[in-house]
Amino acid sequence: MARKKPDVAPPSIFVIFGAGGDLAKRKLFPALCNLKRDGLLPEGFAVVAITHQPISDEAYRDYLKTELPEITGGDFGCQQWETFRSHIFATALDFGEADGYLELGEVLRRIGAQLAIPANYLFYLATPPRFFGPIASRLKEAGLTEESGEVWRRVIIEKPFGQDLESARVLNRLLHANLEEHQIYRIDHYLGKETVQNILAYRFTNSTVEPIWDHRYIDHVQITVAESVGVENRANYYDATGALRDMIPNHLLAVLSVVAMEPPNSFEADAVRDEQTKVLRAIRPFTPEDVLTQTVRGQYGPGKLGGREVAGYRQEPGVGGDSKTETYVALKVLIDSWRWVGVPFYLRTGKRLPGRYTEVAVVYKHAPNAMFRDASFGHRDLPANMLVLRLQPREGIDMTFNAKVPGHRMKLGTVTMEFHYEDHFGSEPTTGYETLLFDCMNGDATLFKRADNIEIGWEIVEPILDVWSALPTRNFPNYEAGSWGPKGADELLERDGRRWKDCSIDCNT
Ligand code: BG6
Repeated sequence: MARKKPDVAPPSIFVIFGAGGDLAKRKLFPALCNLKRDGLLPEGFAVVAITHQPISDEAYRDYLKTELPEITGGDFGCQQWETFRSHIFATALDFGEADGYLELGEVLRRIGAQLAIPANYLFYLATPPRFFGPIASRLKEAGLTEESGEVWRRVIIEKPFGQDLESARVLNRLLHANLEEHQIYRIDHYLGKETVQNILAYRFTNSTVEPIWDHRYIDHVQITVAESVGVENRANYYDATGALRDMIPNHLLAVLSVVAMEPPNSFEADAVRDEQTKVLRAIRPFTPEDVLTQTVRGQYGPGKLGGREVAGYRQEPGVGGDSKTETYVALKVLIDSWRWVGVPFYLRTGKRLPGRYTEVAVVYKHAPNAMFRDASFGHRDLPANMLVLRLQPREGIDMTFNAKVPGHRMKLGTVTMEFHYEDHFGSEPTTGYETLLFDCMNGDATLFKRADNIEIGWEIVEPILDVWSALPTRNFPNYEAGSWGPKGADELLERDGRRWKDCSIDCNT
């Protein structure tokens, strides 16, 4: 997003640690294939898949071919698979063993010479986070992170970036001991979503939007990330993590920051990230009392979703029968800035809600409807205008406003003007990783998180984690699978004379 992007990424070798895992197969290879399909990868490009067990190049290519039938055909696919496959290599490595990294260096030099690729390396750590520090330090010892002249070396990591503020700081220190900040690309896949980026375009390129984007016109903002899935097969990770850590310091605060940030003076990575960090810093810290009145946690019990019975969280495989882990969280967040004084941001996210639905609803203040005060005109309480930025599904922007119902009497009704991206720009299937990988290859860090941004996210949620762990909940499960979450979440808004936008009609399960 920062500078004008080149048509094709510069030549490089893309090295995947943990190439036998889910992320490589579900996201990284499909994304690389889509980049190839769209002509965004250069001739000089290779992938080196690092696995635990030794496997030949051919065997790994065959594994991809069977695991990802879509890459060899179909709409989604990599039509150029046959040429692409010869640029995919596999090598085994014990992450902790120093000698292996010297051999890896040899492998990269050999492939580089064979395919005439300069020594630009992008290391994707698709591994459990406990390996981030050790891999970075071994790469450095082997000279693989050293940049010189035009040659670049970059490392991509993905959340979780720690479990709390302290562990996030430790991780940042470990990374900084081995890499410069400009070499570290921390992925929050929400920032890769087309519509999240479009919030910036919508806000800052339309002269009708920004002048009324503040406390004078906006009553409050709701950010909803609803998921119909349960814990799936991730109980191990999720039960130790919970909805607050899993979603708030990263995805929801990322969305909040693009909605609430001040206009940056350029679209250079640091200009954008400075503004995002600034707005997060302006969030009023939660006192223990705020945690009791401004946060709600929930856990799903058994229920019905999409016409079928589903188990409660405590009955999911791998979850203890007395688990206290929250699968739902709602927060009222206040931003102490000139622009947002007195405008609450209500955030909610949860599993086993009625559908997969992500949106930002900006609710404007009521117009002074004095001239329509006479009930005979129709509505005494006209709904306030609402702007809905729909992130998924059916990405788009909706605006509701009031209009006169045709007829002899002055009767008013609320209508919605809808814009869907697909209708206007069409759509190619993507994984959400294409933009992020392409940007990283081009050295554009705008959509990646900086160390300070990660730490501020944890600073915001830390007081909540403290109070919640000191006061374990006694009422779990407190919402049925297939419902919109615990009653407390409704009460959170009712106390302020507001209510959650009804998303039921928009959900697709
Ligand atoms: C991940 C969380 O980061 O984001 C998951 O760990 C969650 O629990 C997922 O399901 C949601 O992402 P998306 O793109 O499906 O909204």
